[in-house]
Amino acid sequence: MGLETSCDETAVAIVEAPPGDGPLGTILANVIYSQLSEHRRFGGVVPEIAARAHLERIDGLIEEALRASGLGLGDLDGIAATGGPGLIGGVMVGVMTAKALAFAHDKPFLAINHLEGHALSVRLTERVDFPYLLLLASGGHCQLLTVHGPGDFTCLGTTIDDAVGECFDKTAKLLGLGFPGGPAIERLAQSGDAQRFALPRPMRRKPGCDFSFSGLKTAVRQTVEKLDARDKQAIADLCASFQRTVGDVLADRCSNALAMAPLPTLVVAGGVAANLYLRQRLEAVAAKYGARLMAPPQKLCTDNGAMIAWAGVEHLRLGRSDSLDFKPRPRWPLDPTPAGLRV
Ligand code: KG4
Ligand code: ZN
Repeated sequence: MGLETSCDETAVAIVEAPPGDGPLGTILANVIYSQLSEHRRFGGVVPEIAARAHLERIDGLIEEALRASGLGLGDLDGIAATGGPGLIGGVMVGVMTAKALAFAHDKPFLAINHLEGHALSVRLTERVDFPYLLLLASGGHCQLLTVHGPGDFTCLGTTIDDAVGECFDKTAKLLGLGFPGGPAIERLAQSGDAQRFALPRPMRRKPGCDFSFSGLKTAVRQTVEKLDARDKQAIADLCASFQRTVGDVLADRCSNALAMAPLPTLVVAGGVAANLYLRQRLEAVAAKYGARLMAPPQKLCTDNGAMIAWAGVEHLRLGRSDSLDFKPRPRWPLDPTPAGLRV
């Protein structure tokens, strides 16, 4: 069972592992309560409201997941929870709940790095073997990594300022499209002219795999200031131009990564990986290097419990579990070497 409570989704899932150590699990239950409506009027996630909502919902969701799977707590092989990084109040709710259940039912407890949940999630549904190259693109992170195995990552590059999902969210906010911004921008971009606005593409053609999005964010703000808010076509054109620009940047950075670490599979994961236009762009880059692009199904790209349960499976199969003394970690880099610590 996996519990996810690091941001604004309270999520619980139960997955069944395949025999051996390969990919392709079975999702027996996957329930989620999105707190969006509780945060909307504040224009972003309020940590205190999030923590309280996780506390109110988590027990009911666990019962619902057990009911859906037809299992009892005694049937589980382990209980995993996001142990960080994330909003600490929420992470504490998930960790304390998982520890209590693990203790009461004498099951292993696993503290999962939320980023590792995203990083390994593709293996839950797709035939992907280690090692692979990973673009992790979410609301809080933007990194390129080599995934050697569970708990074993090399960071090739990271954002030096904003995360890519954050850039989608800020752009959407400027355009009055609400939160989260990614899905709204993708939808409007479909009827927009991607060539209309020329926006900067930070880091493009520079060596290495680092990202930067703050210059793009500023350029979007300056463009929006000159727009007539009633001009719906102009807004759609800006969404399309913005999305294309992000696509150019991600394609350029992934191209460098594939040159640095030529692996047969490029995986994109994290909330931004739900974007079908960006997936197409990355597919084209991968193909240029003789690699294939793989991604989790769209609904498993954004935060969910199944990715935490699956990461739990991957660790449990290696004989790993965590002590009930585990302390939630607001920061937790996937690659603890100096290159990874820049995150
Ligand atoms: O992985 P996630 O659910 O939460 C974090 O761990 O951050 O990612 C959420 C982010 C938000 O910034 C959201 O705007 C973005 O993913 N996102 C998208 C799309 N769907 C969600 N960005 C671009 N296009 C989408 N379709
Ligand atoms: Zn996430």
